[in-house]
Amino acid sequence: MKFTTPATRNPIDQLKIVGRPTDRIDGPLKCTGTAPYAYERHDIAPNAAHGYIVGAAVAKGRIVSVDTAAAKRAPGVLAVVTAANAGKLGKGKFNTAHLLGGPNIEHYHQAVAVVVAETFEQARAAAGLVRVRYEKKPGRYDLAAAKPTAGVPKKEEKPDTSVGDFARAFEEAPVRLDATYTTPDQSHAMMEPHATLALWEGGKLTVYTSNQMVDWGRKDLARTLGLPPANVRLVSPFIGGGFGGKLFLRAEALCAALGARAARRPVKVALQRAIMMNNTTHRPATIQRIRIGAARDGKISAIAHESWSGDLPDGQPETAVQQTRLLYAGAHRMTALRLATLDLPEANAMRAPGEAPGMMALEIAMDEMAEKLGMDPIAFRILNDTKVDPEKPVRPFSERRFAECLRLGADTFGWKKRNPRPGQVRDGRWLVGLGVAAAFRNNLVMKSAARVRLDRAGKVTVETDMTDIGTGSYTIIAQTAAEMLGVPLERVEVRLGDSDFPISAGSGGQWGGNSSTAGVYAACVKLREAVAQRLGVAESEAVFADGAVRAGGRTVPLVQVAAGAELVGEDIMEYGDLDKKFQQSTFGGHFVEVAVDAYTGETRVRRMLAVCSAGRILNPKSARSQVIGAMTMGVGAALMEELVVDQRHGFFVNHDLASYEVPVHADIPHQDVIFLEEADPVSSPMKAKGVGELGICGVAAAVANAIYNATGVRVRDYPITLDKLIAKMPLSS
Ligand code: MOS
Repeated sequence: MKFTTPATRNPIDQLKIVGRPTDRIDGPLKCTGTAPYAYERHDIAPNAAHGYIVGAAVAKGRIVSVDTAAAKRAPGVLAVVTAANAGKLGKGKFNTAHLLGGPNIEHYHQAVAVVVAETFEQARAAAGLVRVRYEKKPGRYDLAAAKPTAGVPKKEEKPDTSVGDFARAFEEAPVRLDATYTTPDQSHAMMEPHATLALWEGGKLTVYTSNQMVDWGRKDLARTLGLPPANVRLVSPFIGGGFGGKLFLRAEALCAALGARAARRPVKVALQRAIMMNNTTHRPATIQRIRIGAARDGKISAIAHESWSGDLPDGQPETAVQQTRLLYAGAHRMTALRLATLDLPEANAMRAPGEAPGMMALEIAMDEMAEKLGMDPIAFRILNDTKVDPEKPVRPFSERRFAECLRLGADTFGWKKRNPRPGQVRDGRWLVGLGVAAAFRNNLVMKSAARVRLDRAGKVTVETDMTDIGTGSYTIIAQTAAEMLGVPLERVEVRLGDSDFPISAGSGGQWGGNSSTAGVYAACVKLREAVAQRLGVAESEAVFADGAVRAGGRTVPLVQVAAGAELVGEDIMEYGDLDKKFQQSTFGGHFVEVAVDAYTGETRVRRMLAVCSAGRILNPKSARSQVIGAMTMGVGAALMEELVVDQRHGFFVNHDLASYEVPVHADIPHQDVIFLEEADPVSSPMKAKGVGELGICGVAAAVANAIYNATGVRVRDYPITLDKLIAKMPLSS
């Protein structure tokens, strides 16, 4: 089905089930510990052997020799696989060549061997006996040092943009800001490590794994192993968090497949936590320069944003300037992405790649600029709001209620009580401040397919390879099918995450919720047509409600319609060039109150509010959970998260959850989330958009701005740890 705009009235608009706060249908499985995660498929392979990965001990170099003799002789060992005996490995679409290193080593903790044994402990002990000798080569590990060598990223479709004459307009602007901000390398740090159980039957491979994008993973595993895609099945029904770290095939899946082939046994591998952060992808550090010029009345005339990041050779940049192309008006503007080659682990997507670190910089810059202008930071943002793509003014936003989010947030949060002069509000030993930032994240729509069955018992089953990474996909998909077919939620079973099912949009870039349910909508339309046809009526005249179909003066229960034979509807929702006609984005405002200890510089977040404009909210309960989770991650980005680079040896030093700090409950106060009531007629028949990434974009800057308001200390280098504050605190002298 091709989506045509604007979305007209459709069964979803009844909002009997969609749009209502709904408990997760997978909740009982999660709460009772019975959701089948990949590493726990004892039901599938009770005899699975265990694989343990050996990570490279150098960041760049060559393997001179690998001695596996002692490991092979160790108790319980079934096989040791290295690049030397793995057979020829093909290249996948998403950098799978890096997954098993040797003879060349491209980054620290790159997998160089997998040891398979009867038990986990035996595999781990034997892995310690693998002797690898390296010839170390010098590498580049310092972004700041590599910045002058950065070039235009080759893979990026639009590395630079320019409208008007920025240089001149900036020169002529009476009020100007020119500031540089830095964000550190960050790790997804999800709860469930990358884990895979691999089984071979003849030449066919099945992997039970933890992966956000089932079809990408299946195809890349096939390409890497040189198998026809039809011979690979990938199953990923439950995922303990991903945040972008599980978008692609990773080493543990390949090593499980290779290990299982060598050991002639099902093999499971979980990436050890201690190698996850250097073995897998991470959000790369950025250096961002922002220049803004405005008239005295606050109108921006010139805005420029340049971002530098690093990646392995042939890699990709962090697209941190993305929001600056769209968020604020201004006649003269430019953006640029520059990429340096670094020999650190692979840089890639982490929750809201681009905007998450981009907003960390831009929204401090906006706060600084408002102060220079003597304006309230909310009024300054609203003054520079735009209804069209500022780089291409013929292209409107499908929906943009940014100013409304800021106004409603200001009223709700009590912004009027903020003292605009920093460092003025005391509460005992604490300095108290309020901060605001915009929220912005693009909304992508992706084609997505599904199959819906109505069986002879009247039960509805949805099948799609969509994933649920903790987001609530199971529930919104059930809500969609129930609404479309007029049956209660309990009558719908949702089966996800299996490459045997129709190919969905998958979970990434906050496109999953809207795109996957739109695919289910399309399949349900097909099923409605099949039902109507069986009754000899037109689908447009049939009303699906209360478990029955009303048409032509009669009411027939669905169970009766399908009594003779099961009915099936299958379709894909596609969008054509919709994104050329409209700019689709999600908007919001983040409000934060912090208290900073006047003597130690310790920051405590006291209150948070997010107001979101993100289309129809399909399930306000799980959407709220998405946003508060994202806000929590934003606090981590502001105050704690940083992969520390060892500049001599080229690796992330704090590669475990003890030393890579993320917020815990004690760090997070009460959080409020408000969704504007809306339905975007251009996004899909669901009229929904994404919220899971919108929730993180801007949070860290709101924290930074609140810290400034509290203390008068402006920190432009994240995370804002107390060492960056303490020397400059008002009472420190
Ligand atoms: Mo998201 S970083 O595309 O999972």
